[in-house]
Amino acid sequence: MTYQNIIAIEDIPAFRTSSEEFFPLEWYKRMLNDHPVYYHEATNTWNVFRYEDVKQVLSNHQLFSSEGKRTAISVGTGDKGGGIPEKINFTLKDPPESQKRRALVSAAFTPRSLTSWEPRIRQVANLLVEEIKADEPVDLVQALSAPLPAMVMADLFGIPSEDSYLFKNWVDVLFQPFEKGNEQETQRKKMEAGRAYFEYLYPFVVQKRSNPADDIITDLQQVEVEGERLTDDEIVRTTMLLLGAGVETTSHMLSSLFYSLLYDDDSLYGQLRDEPGLVPQTVEEMLRYRFHISKRDRTVKQDNNALGIELKQGDVVIAWMSAANMDERMFANPFTLDIRRGNSKKHLTFGNGPHFCLGGPLARLELDIALSAFLQRFGKIEPVAFDLERSLVRSAPGQSLTCLPLRARE
Ligand code: HEM
Repeated sequence: MTYQNIIAIEDIPAFRTSSEEFFPLEWYKRMLNDHPVYYHEATNTWNVFRYEDVKQVLSNHQLFSSEGKRTAISVGTGDKGGGIPEKINFTLKDPPESQKRRALVSAAFTPRSLTSWEPRIRQVANLLVEEIKADEPVDLVQALSAPLPAMVMADLFGIPSEDSYLFKNWVDVLFQPFEKGNEQETQRKKMEAGRAYFEYLYPFVVQKRSNPADDIITDLQQVEVEGERLTDDEIVRTTMLLLGAGVETTSHMLSSLFYSLLYDDDSLYGQLRDEPGLVPQTVEEMLRYRFHISKRDRTVKQDNNALGIELKQGDVVIAWMSAANMDERMFANPFTLDIRRGNSKKHLTFGNGPHFCLGGPLARLELDIALSAFLQRFGKIEPVAFDLERSLVRSAPGQSLTCLPLRARE
């Protein structure tokens, strides 16, 4: 994939402000009601918003392929800096090929792994939450949501904890999105970070062969699918794939979740303190209601009218999952945040079908643990005034918080 092929998806809604893009409910409402299947001329894309259409585009790989020449994903590390080798490139392949490749990586993501990861994630979360001072303004992004997912991944890869901040800095550069106008510069920085990352991790992976441990790198070294195994080089690049898919997304969700507790409904934090059993359901509802960077493209594989319009082979269709999460055909009162909603888990934030997010259970676990650690330590959280519009940055692709000041009380 090269950046020339990137679809400027941000041109489709043409939001006037970053805050509008951060929480685009009005636009979703309009598209869901008036333009559920919408052709956007400048990007030459079809766009779908309703739940059933989005689900079909994501899951019906006979008609909608992940193997297109154009993509809306703008965070790749680039071809040379750390491209994903063919053998494990399952995200841009269709079944049956994608399945075998996916199996090589999913071996590290079993329920057994999740159980053994839980105390480790708790340890990272507690470490970060312990450092937060009561009664003083703290930036939640710096203190918790930015470091947590990268540090968790570093720990699960088996990286020594003293190197996890180093690791996080490479990750930040590697997955910084490409933006129109700064492609060359971004590419140069990514290649530099990619090289530093590779130089650090490769010898580490090599020596892991003789020192296996309970970590993802060891799991990837041991897996064999139909006689196929991963080389050390492929393992380093697989870690990049996992970081690219799992770090920024989880950080974004954690910041948005706290933003929601502060600004959408300030009674929620107290309710969760009284009833901590509501945490997993709250996380699910936040994934539905507050995650607005979820959209994926597919390329039409054969002419069809599955969406009620004539689609031609090669056409690009963008599935707006975050909009589908607001479809009243699936969710009653969709524009209301309701942590007791019975079917929040039906959200499409992790996708659907053969490419369903491999790290969904891990992301859920991180979010549950981080929120629970915070609730255990602090009795109350209060907003500290900040300028939302100036505290957003383009992410993959959408808007993420760069800071979120709050005051936590014991
Ligand atoms: C809130 C956090 C996350 C969100 C919202 C999210 C979302 C998604 C979505 C929507 C897809 C489907 C892509 C498609 O259909 O083309 C996906 C795929 C994937 N995710 Fe996640 N993800 C999250 C966290 C993670 C984590 C923590 C990891 C692993 C460390 C991860 C690893 C992956 C991988 C490897 C794929 C590719 C699966 C495939 O193509 O078969 N994700 N994710």
